[in-house]
Amino acid sequence: MFEEDYKRRFVYGCDFGTSDYKYGPISLGERPRVVENRGYFPEKSMVAEVLGVSRDVVVGADVTYFLGSGQDLSSRLVYPMRDGIIGVGDDRSWRVIRELLLKSLGEFKPSGFGFKGFYVVASLSAVAPLYMYERFFSYLGEMAEEGLVHSSTLIPQPLAVAIAHKQTSCIVVESGHGNTQVAPISRAPIRGAVVALNRGGSEANTMTAEILKDTGYSDLAREERVVRQVKERLGLLPIDLDKAISFARGNKEAVRGVYHIEGTRIKIDLGDHSWARFLIGEIVFNPNHEIFQSYFKRGMPRPSDIRFGDTIFYGMMDMAETIISSVERCPVELQPLLYGQVILSGGNFCWAPPPSLRTIACDSQTKLQFMLKEKGIENARVVLSPEPQFTVWRGCIVYGYALPQNYEWSWERMEGWLHHKH
Ligand SMILES: Nc1ncnc2c1ncn2[C@@H]1O[C@H](COP(=O)(O)OP(=O)(O)OP(=O)(O)O)[C@@H](O)[C@H]1O
Ligand SMILES: [Mg+2]
Repeated sequence: MFEEDYKRRFVYGCDFGTSDYKYGPISLGERPRVVENRGYFPEKSMVAEVLGVSRDVVVGADVTYFLGSGQDLSSRLVYPMRDGIIGVGDDRSWRVIRELLLKSLGEFKPSGFGFKGFYVVASLSAVAPLYMYERFFSYLGEMAEEGLVHSSTLIPQPLAVAIAHKQTSCIVVESGHGNTQVAPISRAPIRGAVVALNRGGSEANTMTAEILKDTGYSDLAREERVVRQVKERLGLLPIDLDKAISFARGNKEAVRGVYHIEGTRIKIDLGDHSWARFLIGEIVFNPNHEIFQSYFKRGMPRPSDIRFGDTIFYGMMDMAETIISSVERCPVELQPLLYGQVILSGGNFCWAPPPSLRTIACDSQTKLQFMLKEKGIENARVVLSPEPQFTVWRGCIVYGYALPQNYEWSWERMEGWLHHKH
């Protein structure tokens, strides 16, 4: 088989997110496999060692078995990424990543002759420092020795999104669980113009937990997974927050939020607090409305600015302002083109209004279009990726398919295939 054909058959995408790891080969088609990006470090047990199942770190579905074990979860359960970045000396986080890579590649390893390893395309945050690239390549190199990897390459997540949409001039807004990256692309990301927010789906979770506490469900508010489900089922994105709240006051039944947790007897009813459903979506786009102040005063953490190397992740900047400040760091000539193609991706843009509330709630595309208009950008064209949480993975696959096999990795250009020694 020609090498180019081989490569196309065995392209493999990896997207490491703050909450979920999306992975798998081209043969999966439209959707990757998804597992939580976390690892559990079990206590070393004699019994386990005797039985030969002693493992340093456990990832994937097996983690669930340890969650109820009564051991101290906070020190043993590690979510390796914060804002898409892992500290250089954060050994445990790196071990989780290595284990996830190894396990996920192994899951799809074909049996039989002729397999020489995958062509792996892994995507990293647009602001990932160089040592993250080096570390990923070194792990992939180790896996090449085990026959799992043939060659590999790394690309920034926003570029993967642009590629999935086959766009060469656009601005990508990638909003996942941990953070939001806004990156203008003109063939490659314009690095000096990337603006990042320290806000993602986790801030909407925090808001949801607060509402659950206020409604009398304090116990449930402590369970991250339940909170996330409630957010995704009951959270609403208002077109205009003030109008939505006054609508809710006059139409209590129409906005009443009720959710039955599947497989349990628990039925959550937000009752008179149902108007607060609109806060869940709003905080993602704009946490500056005065109504949030009372929550911050009562102890809900306020999204804060954080610095990582040269990058500041802004806590409170609204979504439209973030896009504008990124575009305005680019040459004026390019700016209309960028506003003409604003691509939204990432699970944090999945808001969908129930049909009965269409006049008051909306999807992410509509919301941003309104917000940009209010700030004087009339002609923005905002596009929402289909199944936005998978766009980065799809982009990895499209990129790997197209990148010629004999185009070698260069640290100057930061592109190409690194061919590993076997
Ligand atoms: N229907 C929905 N409504 C609201 N939020 C949703 C919905 N579906 C998924 N999400 C949120 O999207 C987030 C996960 O998105 P995604 O998989 O893109 O993030 P990630 O890649 O893990 O994180 P990051 O890219 O920030 O590192 C979670 O916060 C999840 O709750
Ligand atoms: Mg992501």
